[in-house]
Amino acid sequence: MSHKEHQRHKESELESPSARVLLAIESSCDETAAAVLDENLAIRSNVVASQTDIHRRFGGVVPEMASRAHVRQILPVVDEALTRANAKLDDLCAIAVVTQPGLVGSLLVGLTAAKSLALALEKPLVAVNHIEAHIYACRMHAGYDIFPAVGLVVSGGHTNLYDCASATGFELLGSTIDDAAGEAFDKVAAILGLAYPGGPAIEQAAKSGSPTTFRFPRTFLKEPDRLEFSFSGLKTSVLYQVAGVPPREYDPAGLPRSYVANVAASFQEAVVDVLVAKCLDALHRCGRKTLCVGGGVAANARLREKLDAAAQHEGFTLVISPLALCTDNAAMSAIAWELLAAGRTADLALDVSAGLVRRR
Ligand code: KG4
Ligand code: ZN
Repeated sequence: MSHKEHQRHKESELESPSARVLLAIESSCDETAAAVLDENLAIRSNVVASQTDIHRRFGGVVPEMASRAHVRQILPVVDEALTRANAKLDDLCAIAVVTQPGLVGSLLVGLTAAKSLALALEKPLVAVNHIEAHIYACRMHAGYDIFPAVGLVVSGGHTNLYDCASATGFELLGSTIDDAAGEAFDKVAAILGLAYPGGPAIEQAAKSGSPTTFRFPRTFLKEPDRLEFSFSGLKTSVLYQVAGVPPREYDPAGLPRSYVANVAASFQEAVVDVLVAKCLDALHRCGRKTLCVGGGVAANARLREKLDAAAQHEGFTLVISPLALCTDNAAMSAIAWELLAAGRTADLALDVSAGLVRRR
């Protein structure tokens, strides 16, 4: 199918009001989210209640506060998602919920709501893996089946590379052995006195800086860990550059703007170089011709630009999650339709997991 045919196909699918719908719930970190999604992957509603304002003054997510905010938000958010979709509880044919990975206290709030609905409505419950959902956002955006593909998820909590044989067959190739890429952005932003969350702030500051002023390290691990990531050395290197060795007390607010811009641009370039190189390595090793990239850091314009250049140069298809689906949301849990079709429903004994549980 050509791209135009895909689009036509996608649009005709979107025009089917009788399509079945499910409710998806997401509460893995600091966003309380719910979406109503139809079987053709059209997003009928997508509601996200962010807690950024609660956590900003702590420079990161405080788990206990996140759980409490989820408890306050979950029912209004679900109601809002149903209202915006013009759907009633009886219209739902399944309840999907993110159960891993994430903050246990946060995940439990979403799971409890989802179990209650599934039990009361007598509808199937589907467990969604948050990281796989980030990759599925690319599939939704493409409008056609993009698998097999290599998938990269770069977020505040994860930096994971997958070989995705199909929408329900993701094999983890590598992940970070210390900080996630987004976490490095957040920590370096704090070193530079920039606002939380750090990714957008670094990207903004980097616009007026030079990526070559400082040569920060690119960590490429040796075999057999070649597809793993490590960003903590880079973060320390930025700290040494700014605060000296050993680091001395300094006032981040007093750093000259042009200096901050150059450090931000040089740091961003180092992260992007590593991400792009490892994606190319994974594509080559797995013999795949499509790369999909999702997660909060996939919103980064420099990363998008360098991935685009690599795709042109190396001749692979690049599918990046649309900006609206990069950061956490429940719409990307439309992967639940694939799980439902594969008969992968869960029972009420379903539990959450802080880490990644491998399916195979
Ligand atoms: O996927 P996400 O919303 O939440 C997690 O599952 O972690 O990702 C949030 C992360 C934060 O670390 C944030 O700083 C980073 O994504 N981020 C960015 C950008 N926008 C968000 N990093 C780099 N450039 C951006 N434009
Ligand atoms: Zn995420």
